[in-house]
Amino acid sequence: MSDTSPDLPTDQVFDDLLHEDRSFPPPPDFAAKANISDASLYEAANEDYLQYWTDQAAELDWFEPWEETLEWTPPHCKWFVGGKLNITHNCLDRHLETKPDATAILFEGEPGDQRKLTYRELHAETCKFANALKSLGITKGDRIAIYMPMVPEAAIAMLACARIGAIHSVVFGGFSADSLSDRINDSECKAVITADGGWRRGKFLPLKETTDTAVQATSSIEHVIVYQRDPSFDCPMTSGRDHWYHELVANASEDCPPEEMDAEDVLFILYTSGTTGKPKGIVHTTGGYSVTTYSTTKYIFDLKDDDIYWCTADVGWITGHSYIVYGPLQNGAQILMYEGAPNHPENDRFWEIVEKYKVTVFYTAPTAIRAFMKWGDDLPAKHDLSSLRLLGSVGEPINPEAWMWYNQHIGQNKCPIVDTWWQTETGAIMISGLPGHTTMKPGFAGPALPGIKATILDEDANEVTSGSGLLAITQPWPSMLRTLWGDDQRYIDTYFSKWNPSIYFPGDGAKRDDEGNFMVLGRVDDVLNVSGHRIGTMEVESALVDHPAVAESAVVGRAHDLKGQAIVAFVTVKGNTEMSDDLNNELRVHVADKIGAIARPDQIVFTADLPKTRSGKIMRRLLRDIAEGRAIGDTTTLADASVVASLQAQHADSEG
Ligand code: WT7
Repeated sequence: MSDTSPDLPTDQVFDDLLHEDRSFPPPPDFAAKANISDASLYEAANEDYLQYWTDQAAELDWFEPWEETLEWTPPHCKWFVGGKLNITHNCLDRHLETKPDATAILFEGEPGDQRKLTYRELHAETCKFANALKSLGITKGDRIAIYMPMVPEAAIAMLACARIGAIHSVVFGGFSADSLSDRINDSECKAVITADGGWRRGKFLPLKETTDTAVQATSSIEHVIVYQRDPSFDCPMTSGRDHWYHELVANASEDCPPEEMDAEDVLFILYTSGTTGKPKGIVHTTGGYSVTTYSTTKYIFDLKDDDIYWCTADVGWITGHSYIVYGPLQNGAQILMYEGAPNHPENDRFWEIVEKYKVTVFYTAPTAIRAFMKWGDDLPAKHDLSSLRLLGSVGEPINPEAWMWYNQHIGQNKCPIVDTWWQTETGAIMISGLPGHTTMKPGFAGPALPGIKATILDEDANEVTSGSGLLAITQPWPSMLRTLWGDDQRYIDTYFSKWNPSIYFPGDGAKRDDEGNFMVLGRVDDVLNVSGHRIGTMEVESALVDHPAVAESAVVGRAHDLKGQAIVAFVTVKGNTEMSDDLNNELRVHVADKIGAIARPDQIVFTADLPKTRSGKIMRRLLRDIAEGRAIGDTTTLADASVVASLQAQHADSEG
């Protein structure tokens, strides 16, 4: 294999349990009450997938019906052509008729403060803030950055934008000022909605200060709106540009009719990492995204009126968009939102919250599950988790060992587990079991959902029937990304050029069992998955070479028992710079400052040279082997083979 062809990830991690036959049919009392407990949806979708999506769409309210379900000119699609709707109408107004006083959001702040918003209140707050945005001159099509802690106002800010047709671009609150300004600049945001700060592991993180730094490096921002999380905090405000959220909404009207959006009008942009240094602005539109998040939430999380649904993601990621805000609200769910860390003040905070709110449906990431395993079985055992009836996993492959632990210690052997595979680009879950129907197998995400067609292909588009290959989605779906903001060519090149323009290439390796369950093995491109977060190796490399002491760098992932992957950076320094421990630490901090703490390398290996092919390409596969401590493969194309030996020695040193 050449060093440039995608390198299938190893599936060794799953060897621990796969040789045993473990399968978990839905518990009978779960199946008896489940929204779906038979194969009827699959049958309907197989017969006519456009009709399937038409039926799903018909469950939502539309201001005007669509004329055509799908217009597909590969790789570009339009769904529900000509239809008019507003996602906030389906999230809010619709429920005012049936259950205005039902809980929409239950909030627990990290310090322990609590709030509750009914659907009526959430509707009113959204309308008030939407009117406030209007009063600042924000209108349909304007881009608005949202850089917020996990408080209800983050959701309200998103909804208020959607209400008036402004396009939100949520930036995870853990990203740095540079990451924020890059994203603001790429889509020329007119305003940024932020907060004085938010609580994380007992500290108040000053988001507004970071926002101020970011905004200095932008030219499009006219307004900075600041939600006040802690009135005792002295927050810097720039007069003329900055506005307090509470002052803006104080006199705003609760009446704000939803903007009639075309199904294909942009709902939001969400940036995600790719294989270059520049993040991609994933574009999602209104109609298809509404329909798919609505229907997947309904079927996969099996929601009922009395469920308390908790997804532990942050609204800064796609999981927060689709499965904290839009999917659950369209379903009229009772949503729990928690601001802080899982280990504050103690390692059992999540289980304390489950017990306190009687959470019934719980959706989290394997990296968190592995941390809980490490923290000990006694922590969940201390709490009454009997309210739980369904568990979910997302963000990275869940190793069977973690699956079994989750099943036993959290689900108490009575909750189905849905392992949901999807991406920022897919907008909604694509592969998952249906909890009342599918027999779950640890390590397997399950079959493609009704209406979704996935398979495994080799490089030449042949179906792979045994062993691993490349995951492919072979038919369009309503919530697929429509393009990359300002860069349609990159959209075509990244996702639809691997085989032919009608097949979507997600960038994951996978294999399949005889029943059509997919086991997703991980990325096949230069993208890492660290604790369920996607980080481009090139982004980290650019951050490193931005430091004056660094000449060159190459970043790879290494398996990590908690994070899934850890970041290892090989660095060459300029001139006579001393390769000291101080510099090593400084570089790690530098990357965190440039991108955000999630991108801080676990290990930096100084080296005199990087292994390159004769044509000058860095041999990443070799670096991965070194980082993993594996035997070194073929180095015949290496320009200077002695580099490898010294790299291995350096790596061993820096680990020790
Ligand atoms: C990548 C997408 C979409 C949710 C959060 C991450 C990996 C996601 C699974 C899963 C195995 C998974 C893939 C995918 N991934 N869920 N259940 N099993 N891998 O979103 O940042 O867009 O990353 O996360 O590698 O391509 P994202």
